[in-house]
Amino acid sequence: MTTYLVTGCAGFIANEVAAQLIESGAKVVGIDNVNDYYDVRLKEHRLERLQSHDADRFEFVRGDIENQETLAELFEKHSFDGVLNLAARAGVRYSMENPHVYMTTNAMGSLNLLDQMQRHGVKKYVLASTSSLYAGQPMPFVETLPVNTPISPYAASKKAAEAMAFAYHHLYDIDVTICRYFTVYGPAGRPDMCIFRFIKWIDEGTPIELFGDGEQSRDFTYVSDIASGTIAALKPVGYEIVNLGGGGTPVSLNTIIEMLEQRLGKKAKVEHKTFHKADIKTTSADITKARERLGWTPKVDLEEGIDASVAWYREHQPWSSELLLP
Ligand SMILES: NC(=O)c1ccc[n+]([C@@H]2O[C@H](COP(=O)([O-])OP(=O)(O)OC[C@H]3O[C@@H](n4cnc5c(N)ncnc54)[C@H](O)[C@@H]3O)[C@@H](O)[C@H]2O)c1
Repeated sequence: MTTYLVTGCAGFIANEVAAQLIESGAKVVGIDNVNDYYDVRLKEHRLERLQSHDADRFEFVRGDIENQETLAELFEKHSFDGVLNLAARAGVRYSMENPHVYMTTNAMGSLNLLDQMQRHGVKKYVLASTSSLYAGQPMPFVETLPVNTPISPYAASKKAAEAMAFAYHHLYDIDVTICRYFTVYGPAGRPDMCIFRFIKWIDEGTPIELFGDGEQSRDFTYVSDIASGTIAALKPVGYEIVNLGGGGTPVSLNTIIEMLEQRLGKKAKVEHKTFHKADIKTTSADITKARERLGWTPKVDLEEGIDASVAWYREHQPWSSELLLP
């Protein structure tokens, strides 16, 4: 049976990637340290979904990709057909408060995985990277743009991970696909990201904390599309960087707030804060390469995706509204 190592499997995106891989008939070994950057109840909830499968389809390791011994044991025990590395410290703003963990997990953790792959002859690596790297570049963002001026420790740590993956590709013929994701949202989404926070705040009548004037916009991408793109990225490519984004017109946070108000039947109260220096104003993905090389296009439009996100929140109340925001 084809077996993949999926890191960060209690996380928002890797959880969906693991679920889709299992659905397709593969076995998934998932690792996650279930850290408390955001409410661990949400991570445990996501894990339950995977743990409902038999042990021959899903195996969970509560462990840290920073720990070389843990990884050595894992690679000794299993023969992986590929590694999908999504475990990360992923919040842009928190990366200013605690930059060191970004380097130890995102850069060193990635190196630890590549090192084990090289030792055990594992030939396929998919790395989750980010549109944050394109800060300051002209839009739509295309993979050939230079990304040498990251504006947050988070983006800088992902740049390090990308560069190390190239070195391992060059030296050891590891086939690498770097997926640069554009603002991912959906059911059981991250409580540090705007859509989850806005749903909660509008629903409970708490003022929305909005950085800047709300006209900053994002190329929102639905989680199941991101997961299918990540799986398509398992295809042998040599070394490629591929954008996975909505590919349409970027949507402003003010528009998102209006869409949520309609669905929740409540008016948002908004509290404006200064625009954050580590944030990008607008993101827009050129997804031609993903279409041509991976045969991937996003399927779920924003209306449908927001419906599903609100529906998940409602279905899981009161528990979902009790989740703590970081
Ligand atoms: N969500 C987005 O919009 C977005 C955009 C661009 C890139 N990404 C990237 O996609 C990947 C997944 O992001 P997400 O939104 O699902 O975030 P997430 O925080 O929900 O998931 C990351 C998971 O990794 C785990 N983890 C962190 N450090 C670890 C370590 N040292 N060892 C083992 N596990 C560890 C966490 O516990 C968490 O469950 C990340 O690499 C992130 O940088 C996400």
